[in-house]
Amino acid sequence: MKILSLRLRSFRSYEQLQLCPPDGVTVLVGENGAGKTNLLEAVHLCCLGKSHRTGNDRDMIRSGADSAAVQLTVKREDGVHDVGVRLYEAQRRKKLIYINGKTAPRIGELFGHATAVIFSPEDLRTVRDGPEVRRHFMDMLLCQRQKSYFYALQMYTAALRHRNALLKGEDLRQLDAWDEELCRAAGPLVQCRRALAGELDRCCRDHYLYIGGKDDEVFSVAYRGHLENSPDVYADMRRGLERAREEDIRRQTTTFGPHRDDLNLTLSGNDMRAFASQGQVRTAALSMKLAAFDALEKTQGEPPLLLLDDVLSELDPERRRRLLGRVKHVQTLLTCTDLSDLTGADPACILKVENGTLTEIGG
Ligand SMILES: Nc1ncnc2c1ncn2[C@@H]1O[C@H](COP(=O)(O)OP(=O)(O)OP(=O)(O)O)[C@@H](O)[C@H]1O
Ligand SMILES: [Mg+2]
Repeated sequence: MKILSLRLRSFRSYEQLQLCPPDGVTVLVGENGAGKTNLLEAVHLCCLGKSHRTGNDRDMIRSGADSAAVQLTVKREDGVHDVGVRLYEAQRRKKLIYINGKTAPRIGELFGHATAVIFSPEDLRTVRDGPEVRRHFMDMLLCQRQKSYFYALQMYTAALRHRNALLKGEDLRQLDAWDEELCRAAGPLVQCRRALAGELDRCCRDHYLYIGGKDDEVFSVAYRGHLENSPDVYADMRRGLERAREEDIRRQTTTFGPHRDDLNLTLSGNDMRAFASQGQVRTAALSMKLAAFDALEKTQGEPPLLLLDDVLSELDPERRRRLLGRVKHVQTLLTCTDLSDLTGADPACILKVENGTLTEIGG
């Protein structure tokens, strides 16, 4: 997949911008706050319908503007795909998605046209923090893989919200109806996550060995959840909800189901969160992202876009060389504050980011 153009209007620090990056690595260099991450965020928005760093779409609208527009055109093996997102300041106006020039009826239609994997310093959280970041990691990947996953997730999340609201009240008559919705949506979630975890485990192990360079460390990823081994997710979800019902009513929340899923990360059998050093955590996080990249490449038959936000400075030269070696066939947007972070990289183009504009300074 290759970006033909990225166009922004009133997006973050940019009033108007068009970027047509060449094949290979495009470096965005600039001071802190220059607007480098903003550009990666714009690509992420077109691939996933939301920012990777804010849950509030309005944050991305340039201060003082009433709307923001981002348009990403990519060339794929099957032709050109054009994705646009428009955000509005007004509370009552929903974001609009355009696919090949037409307004999409549902946000989910965005998935799978342009796809990307972003690496950022916050990835360490995928290893260190609680289960929700690992569910988010799986969800972001699975939504890009198939939009039916997004719709199942949307249905599950809505049913869960309704059920939890109901559990906080007196009238529980609708509980059966929401249980049914949860059971129907749980199937695709559990099946896709379980299959993904298996794939990730195989790839992560290799990437960890390669980047870490120590062959006695085995990094492993396993799916954990109430339904991890269930042969019939619908039926087992139903049984689980029934069994938990009394407790759910007492605790006023849903205690059983894939919204409690996790990925169990281990290094040579030891729990990563409790056991791993800083460097091991970083290598594990990178391996997971590389495995996510492989998973998307495998489904689509071509590599997704790669967004590397400020990650090279965190790596020693050898690991940097290994990371870049793994993805050299891929169109990449890479940010840094200092060109000396690029040792080992072979950029096709270097752009200086300053005052909302881009200037080519090398390649
Ligand atoms: N909605 C907005 N309207 C106008 N400017 C914004 C908006 N949101 C963010 N900015 C500006 O964008 C800049 C931050 O951009 P960005 O996060 O891309 O910086 P960066 O180059 O990645 O910096 P760093 O090297 O520190 O990561 C800040 O100067 C901020 O004031
Ligand atoms: Mg940044």
